[in-house]
Amino acid sequence: MNDATPSSVEDAASDRPTAPTPDHIMQTATAFWASKVLLTAVEFDLFSTLGSGAMTANALGGALGIHPRGRFDFFDALVALGFLERDGDGAEGRYRNTPATAAFLDKNSPSYIGGMPEMLNARLFGFWNGLGEALRTGEPQNEIKHHGKPMFEELYAEEARLGQFLEAMTGFQAANFQMLAERFDFSRYQTMTDVGGALGLMSVIVGQRHPHLRFTTFDLPPVAPLAERHIESVGMDDHITVVSGDFFEDDLPPADVVTMGNILHDWNLEKKKMLIGKAYAALPEGGALLAVENLIDDARRENAFGLLMSLNMLIEFGDAFDYTFADFQGWCREAGFTRFEKLPLAGPTSVAIAYK
Ligand SMILES: C[S@@+](CC[C@H](N)C(=O)[O-])C[C@H]1O[C@@H](n2cnc3c(N)ncnc32)[C@H](O)[C@@H]1O
Repeated sequence: MNDATPSSVEDAASDRPTAPTPDHIMQTATAFWASKVLLTAVEFDLFSTLGSGAMTANALGGALGIHPRGRFDFFDALVALGFLERDGDGAEGRYRNTPATAAFLDKNSPSYIGGMPEMLNARLFGFWNGLGEALRTGEPQNEIKHHGKPMFEELYAEEARLGQFLEAMTGFQAANFQMLAERFDFSRYQTMTDVGGALGLMSVIVGQRHPHLRFTTFDLPPVAPLAERHIESVGMDDHITVVSGDFFEDDLPPADVVTMGNILHDWNLEKKKMLIGKAYAALPEGGALLAVENLIDDARRENAFGLLMSLNMLIEFGDAFDYTFADFQGWCREAGFTRFEKLPLAGPTSVAIAYK
């Protein structure tokens, strides 16, 4: 993902770059203001409160418990940032959702993706304040820093936090899984194991598009009841089996296709290679390992989101990191895979494929 904001202006007559401007520097330096405004609007559930209606600043501010000092600045900033529309001005002006906030940030919409903003706000916004310390020490800056427990154990210690994390993953990945279901040729295969499948979303989405497939969604034991509930609620329990286990202790359930959505980037090199080896062992000849990730471009110059995600892995885990398609091919070739492919998915995400 390239940020196209120029850091110098072109001389229209000659195409020569002229003096640099500080615009890009200042936009990025203050980007957390805009980010925090959006995240706080999600925290206050502003977009669901508006729903399909329109409200004045005072009515909306009153409903959300926002002090009069902040009302107009907050709502108008959201208008200027493109996250609200406003009919009229001043005290009579009425605020409405945009088509995008109505679709994705109103909790009553089936395509709600607010779980990720909620998690970014509740956890990562604060933890990223420790980026400098993470860079100096190589140590994570999340809950582990305070309690010393492994990331997933800490995250899953409370049901509410577990639910929040799993919802966040779900919101983040739906568009990618839909594109995966369209773009990868699943017709040749009968079974799929989704490793670290969380609520089972990848199996649900691929299964709705390819009903001939049967799925195993594999994750840690605390996740199983939530996954079962989700899979039942969408009527896919005939197609998808929930299996609990620890992918470092247990073999992966065998299948023609093994998928890993944002799994390999959670771990250090040794554990990445161990997981790739386990995927190889779970596949038949001709089977495929699919890693859905924000793959960094091989030259490490363009996919800013992938590179920021890798810094996020430093904040979350310390030694975990995102990687390029070239890295993936190298590790998979070592494990015995012979043929490789990469398909673009939504935005900065791709699927890296290794065939056995
Ligand atoms: C970053 S989330 C990705 C979830 C989902 N695949 C997606 O793409 O949104 C990582 C998942 O790995 C699971 N996980 C972490 N450690 C695990 C382990 N040792 N064994 C099995 N699953 C594990 C977590 O519970 C979580 O659901």
